[in-house]
Amino acid sequence: MANFVDENALAFIRQTAASEDGVLAAIKGACRQQDLPSITPEAGKFIHVLLGLTGAKRVLEIGTCLGYSAVWIARALPEDGTLETIELDDERADQAQDWFEKASVDDKVEILRGKALGVLPTLPTKRYDAVFIDADKETMLTYLDFGTRLLRHNGVLLADNVFWKGTAWSKGSIQGTEEIREFVHEACDHRDLEASILPLGDGLLVARRT
Ligand SMILES: C[S@@+](CC[C@H](N)C(=O)[O-])C[C@H]1O[C@@H](n2cnc3c(N)ncnc32)[C@H](O)[C@@H]1O
Repeated sequence: MANFVDENALAFIRQTAASEDGVLAAIKGACRQQDLPSITPEAGKFIHVLLGLTGAKRVLEIGTCLGYSAVWIARALPEDGTLETIELDDERADQAQDWFEKASVDDKVEILRGKALGVLPTLPTKRYDAVFIDADKETMLTYLDFGTRLLRHNGVLLADNVFWKGTAWSKGSIQGTEEIREFVHEACDHRDLEASILPLGDGLLVARRT
């Protein structure tokens, strides 16, 4: 995956502020082996710190995969905190469940299996302290709508891949580029959000629900 931060700076951040324990490193290894995506360690650690700072208790993730980001998130939550994470692929969800048990966060994490567009309308509005969008890019705008509705006032909206390998600003485009561009513009101009973008991983959008 392309990185947008100087290589040496990135290595320094990973060695100092974003080191993984055995379980996180093993999930990352399983993702690599199966050629599956996961956020970078520095994005994971940033989200972890942000959720701790904001005192988040109820978090929603769209796109579990093998549970790498979910473990960073769940570990930021207090004892009575909960992470609901949506995954449509049963085999990935099964693997994620195993990792949650190995990471001892299974009591906090619930996998909501199925298509996000089927699950999201069943969730209570204004309930979540944070929503992390990291699934199919074609549906980002709809996830933005749901995310904004599901978040409480001052809740945090996060979205990965907003650089989309650099195509968000380049002349050329790949599948998903148009949707990512629209998503970024909508999120940054949204009357109910205050957004910023960090060059972590493939671009991480962070917004406050006003
Ligand atoms: C980028 S990966 C998630 C990575 C994960 N957040 C992490 O960093 O460890 C996206 C996941 O979303 C799932 N997904 C894609 N489209 C979906 C949909 N419409 N509903 C639910 N899950 C979906 C995919 O199966 C995939 O496992």
